Amino acid sequence: MSCFLLNSSLGKKLVMSITGCALVLFLLFHMAMNLVALVSPKAYNLVCSFLGDNWYAVVATVGLAALVVLHFVFALILTWNNYRARGTQRYAVTVNEPGVEWASKNMLLLGFIVVLGLGLHLCHFWSKMMFVELMGQHQNSLGYDPENGAALIAYTFKQWHNVVLYLVWLAALWLHLNHGVWSMFQTAGWANDTWYPRLKCGAKIVSTLIILGFAAVIIAYYVCPCYAEAAFETLGDAAEACTEACCAGHAH
Ligand code: HEM
Repeated sequence: MSCFLLNSSLGKKLVMSITGCALVLFLLFHMAMNLVALVSPKAYNLVCSFLGDNWYAVVATVGLAALVVLHFVFALILTWNNYRARGTQRYAVTVNEPGVEWASKNMLLLGFIVVLGLGLHLCHFWSKMMFVELMGQHQNSLGYDPENGAALIAYTFKQWHNVVLYLVWLAALWLHLNHGVWSMFQTAGWANDTWYPRLKCGAKIVSTLIILGFAAVIIAYYVCPCYAEAAFETLGDAAEACTEACCAGHAH
């Protein structure tokens, strides 16, 4: 079995599909969890404290990291194999074939952008939350309680350049998911003439819902200072931290 997964092109695509499917499920969960921050920053912080430095959260993080690494490494191997197999035809890929979407030809580039954005995102959030707790500290570098995720969202998205960076990141993720979700089913052999348009439409709906859910939180926290105020009232963060770090950013 492991030989099939490692040695055949279909096996490698299967690994891409299975890891991709698990990552899409994570995104749906993460997006749904973030929507709680729109309804109630207090409730969001309760979820964050539940997913703090518990052993199950740490195991999930390690599993997630393994999925991202597998997905990325197999994408590199498949791209390299395709590149070698194409031989003298390799330059033909720059020609626009009808019906072949831009995203499907640039999945690796989009994947790079998604991973770069993920690195930045983990610096903004994970390193100031779970990592701080794992280090046994009770305050992060901003002086916040590491379980106050809502305050961190408010702090991050009061800065317009972060809003722009995240929206660009989400646009790349949307294009990547649009093709990825559909191609997952194609690898499983479901994309016949009847199902092809249905699956393409389904992939568009799933990726659009995920991206709109994330974008809604970013825009709401940028536009509405009431979220920041509510966020800093929770879990005992000092009120003056709100005035300094958050509300000042919304003076406009
Ligand atoms: C509005 C946009 C987003 C917000 C507000 C947000 C918020 C957060 C927060 C608060 C955490 C830290 C959780 C903790 O350490 O307890 C986190 C972790 C994480 N986020 Fe996001 N996130 C957003 C978008 C995304 C997107 C688009 C992706 C993937 C492409 C993503 C992937 C991750 C990953 C992989 C982690 C680490 C999870 C873990 O520790 O197991 N996030 N995010």
